[in-house]
Amino acid sequence: MKEKIINLLKSQTGYISGQDLSDNLKISRAAIWKHISELREADYEISAVPHLGYKLDLVPDRLFPHEIYHNLKTKIIGKKIYHLETAVSTMDIAYKLAQEGAFEGTIVCAETQTKGRGRLLRSWNSPKYKGIYFSLILRPNISAQEASKLTLITALSICEAIKEATGLNTKIKWPNDIMLEGKKIAGILTEMQAEQDRIHFVVVGVGLNVNTKKEELPDFAASIKEFSGTHICRIELLKAILRKIESNYINFKNKGFKNILEKSKSISFTIGRHIKVNSQNKTIEGQALDIDLDGSLVIRKEEGILEKVFSGDVVTLR
Ligand code: BTN
Repeated sequence: MKEKIINLLKSQTGYISGQDLSDNLKISRAAIWKHISELREADYEISAVPHLGYKLDLVPDRLFPHEIYHNLKTKIIGKKIYHLETAVSTMDIAYKLAQEGAFEGTIVCAETQTKGRGRLLRSWNSPKYKGIYFSLILRPNISAQEASKLTLITALSICEAIKEATGLNTKIKWPNDIMLEGKKIAGILTEMQAEQDRIHFVVVGVGLNVNTKKEELPDFAASIKEFSGTHICRIELLKAILRKIESNYINFKNKGFKNILEKSKSISFTIGRHIKVNSQNKTIEGQALDIDLDGSLVIRKEEGILEKVFSGDVVTLR
C-alpha cells in the first residue's frame, strides 16, 4: 500500500487531497494518515497542509525495493529484491536463498554490513547509507571454470553505469576491482555452488563506495563522490548497474563472451602494466599482456615466456 501511496504522490507536481488518495486506494483517510506517518518514519519528507492535502518533498536515498523497481524495466535482474537495514553479509543471505531455489536475478542489498567480506578473506568496510552493497543470484548454463566471466561482465556493467550516471571514466583492475584515478572504488566477490561441469548457482557480490567519506576508507580506496564532487543518488546508480548487468548478461548468453571481453579490455587498468600476481601459492612477475577468451590474464615474464593465470591478487608495479 505504501508503494501505491508513494507512486500517487510522485505522479503529482502539487498536492493531492487525503480524499483523492482514499478514493483512489479504497482505504479510509485514517489509514492514509497512518501510512503517511510510517513513510515519514522511513525518512520520506511529505508535507501535509489542511484543505490541500499531501505533497512528496523528498525521497530518501535508501535502497528500498519499491524505489528500485520503479521504472527499472529489466526482465531478470532485480525482479525480486530483498532489502535489509543491516546484514552480516549479503553473500550469506543470497547463498541461502539460492540454495532454497530463489530465481535468477534475485538481489539482496543492505544499507550496512557488520561482516562484509572481500576476496582472500579480506573484510569489506560498509558504512551505513554511503555505499551500495548487494549480492546477485545467477544461474548460468556454464562450467565452473567459466565463472570468472561473470565477474568481468559485472565489472564492465559497473563501469558503464558509473559513466552513464556521473560521466566518470573508471577502469577494471583484473580480475575484480574497479578503479578511479588509481584508487579502488569497488570490488566484486564471486561465490558459487557447482559440480565440475555444471554450475548450480553463482552469487555475485558488489561493494561500491558511493558517497563514502575518505576517512572511512583505507588509503588505497576512494569513493565516487570524491571525484564527482557531488552527492550521488544511490538508487539511480544501482538501477543503472542492474540494467547494464542485464543487457551484458543477456548479450553474453546469446552471443558469447567475445564482445564483453573486447569492451572490458578497452577499459582495462591492468593490461600493459608491469605486475606481480600471487596465484595458487606462486608469484608471477611480468607485463600484463592480454585477457584471454577464457577470462584468464596473460602475462609475459622477464624471460619472454607467456603464462596464464585464472585468478589471483594483482599488485601493480609500474
Ligand atoms: C573485493 O574487493 O575483495 C570484493 C568485495 C565485495 C564486497 C561485497 S559488499 C556486498 C557483498 N557482501 C559481502 O560480504 N561482500 C560483497
